[in-house]
Amino acid sequence: MKVISIANFKGGVGKTTTAINLAAGLKKKGKKVLLIDVDPQANLTQSLGIIEEIEDSIYKVLRKEAFGENTKLTDVLITASGLDLIPSSLDLAGAELELASVYGREQILSQLIKPLKEYDFVFIDCPPSMGMLTINALVSSDYVLIPLQAEFLPLKGVRSFLKHFELVKKLNKKIKLLGFVLTKYDTRKKMNQQIKEDLEKEFSEDLVFTTHIRSNIALANAQEKGEDIFSYDKNSNGAKDYKELAREFLSKFK
Ligand SMILES: Nc1ncnc2c1ncn2[C@@H]1O[C@H](COP(=O)(O)OP(=O)(O)OP(=O)(O)O)[C@@H](O)[C@H]1O
Ligand SMILES: [Mg+2]
Repeated sequence: MKVISIANFKGGVGKTTTAINLAAGLKKKGKKVLLIDVDPQANLTQSLGIIEEIEDSIYKVLRKEAFGENTKLTDVLITASGLDLIPSSLDLAGAELELASVYGREQILSQLIKPLKEYDFVFIDCPPSMGMLTINALVSSDYVLIPLQAEFLPLKGVRSFLKHFELVKKLNKKIKLLGFVLTKYDTRKKMNQQIKEDLEKEFSEDLVFTTHIRSNIALANAQEKGEDIFSYDKNSNGAKDYKELAREFLSKFK
């Protein structure tokens, strides 16, 4: 089992879209994948068609674990649009404060994920900020994957993220940067290519995924319909790009 946090402090860069469609792409390749939504916005949960507020969410399990009650993640596991999901709910926002005073607060999620050995990959969709929930995600993870919109000045946000990432490494020595995925990519824009080159220069070439995710309205429409891109429109550019990303992703684990 490999646990991967999908994170970036910048909002709207395609974290949730990547979590869903990379997971769906890997599932098509026969991998067993679990999605965990630790964002109180619950976009991942909603994008898989769960729109009503649910009581049995990750919030319930995190609280129980934090306060020493008997619990496990699979208590709230659901299958949504064919994908295994630990859903989020709006009340998860309260966890940031509630967990702040708990002993071992950074390790709560990590303890809960450990028994889930039957999965090949566990993806954690993080909120766009560094709080107790993101720290818990990163402490649980073997890798972090950073989606990045190929737009003006994204490197500033990345540098800030990596500064925090160094601090998290003190709590989780095994975590590694899996790489950057450029999203909402527009091949016609010179800026997009420039940003790719800047990233490769600042980090190393093998940390920037060769596959980039083009801007494709089908990805947004699929999310609105509560489906992954392969079920929504398997011939779209979004489906092609996420299929290719799944292939490249797997090649890193050979
Ligand atoms: N490649 C793409 N082409 C077109 N639209 C996209 C693409 N990727 C994501 N989107 C759309 O952009 C919006 C933001 O994407 P998403 O929710 O994945 O970002 P996020 O990083 O998870 O945001 P947040 O930080 O708020 O959690 C969504 O409406 C999504 O459907
Ligand atoms: Mg999101």
